[in-house]
Amino acid sequence: MLVYLNGKYLDYTQALLPVDERGLQFADGIYEVALIWGGQFVDLDRHLERFERSAQGIELPMPLTRSEFRAVADELLRREPMTQGAIYLQVTRGVSPRDHKFPPGSVQPTVIAYLKDAPVDREALQHGVKAITEPDLRWLRCDIKSVSLLPNVLARQHAVAKGVREAIQVRAGVGVTEGSATNIWMVHQGSIVTAPASNWILSGIVRSVVLELAQQEKLPVAERFASAEELLQMDEVFMTSTTSFVMPIVEIDGRKVGDGEPGPVTLRLQELYLERLDQITHATLG
Ligand code: PDD
Repeated sequence: MLVYLNGKYLDYTQALLPVDERGLQFADGIYEVALIWGGQFVDLDRHLERFERSAQGIELPMPLTRSEFRAVADELLRREPMTQGAIYLQVTRGVSPRDHKFPPGSVQPTVIAYLKDAPVDREALQHGVKAITEPDLRWLRCDIKSVSLLPNVLARQHAVAKGVREAIQVRAGVGVTEGSATNIWMVHQGSIVTAPASNWILSGIVRSVVLELAQQEKLPVAERFASAEELLQMDEVFMTSTTSFVMPIVEIDGRKVGDGEPGPVTLRLQELYLERLDQITHATLG
């Protein structure tokens, strides 16, 4: 496996960083994950735009321009061709003796990029997955795609320990925010509900695409926070992300969602999402 690290394309075993790397010590960095489908990057521009917004959010000057990041991505894919997978991008505030304040301006940010497998779970897309609810323990800037993911890690681990796929986070005084690494959607009497783009969620790239698809289909969408009680009374629930697409959730906290099968609105949006991927890349799910 190849890793881009600070301007060099290295073998995984050679891509090493010192212990006082700020990503390691302070989680002082940001990241992106974009899909590779049919041998092409999907919505990479939208991801790179969000990457820049995250950098601004943590007051980190980006060391590469958007077109330079794209060139790195293209070069990785040229050297390591892959029909289906993902690219991981990360920028941190660099290597400097441990001290909370920003390092001197002469310290270069650390840039990491590599391609990884991201298998599509076709069975789950068809039949749905189970979830639990968990208290949202995160900070107040969930709109920044920070590598500081400890609450997300704990939430996902609690889900896995209970034998389910995702943890739906519920913020005290706010309502249903998002999954540990997904955006959450609900359907009630044909109307779609999802948390508004705000400091309480990471506004997903797939979320932005699904909003466009819903608009094309003239499906009503309310961007608002649902309560935990409402969540359990919805006809349909689904989650979206770069690697899970439009994934039905058929059970929450041991209770069936609707009749316990993926619902029509979810399956229609999933179909449109997959069609869009194929239009972009001329590839198929096989
Ligand atoms: N996760 N919310 C959170 C907290 C996320 O981490 C993600 C993405 C999303 C969905 O965003 P998008 O549609 O842009 O993938 C929402 C990525 C895939 C990850 O951490 O691996």
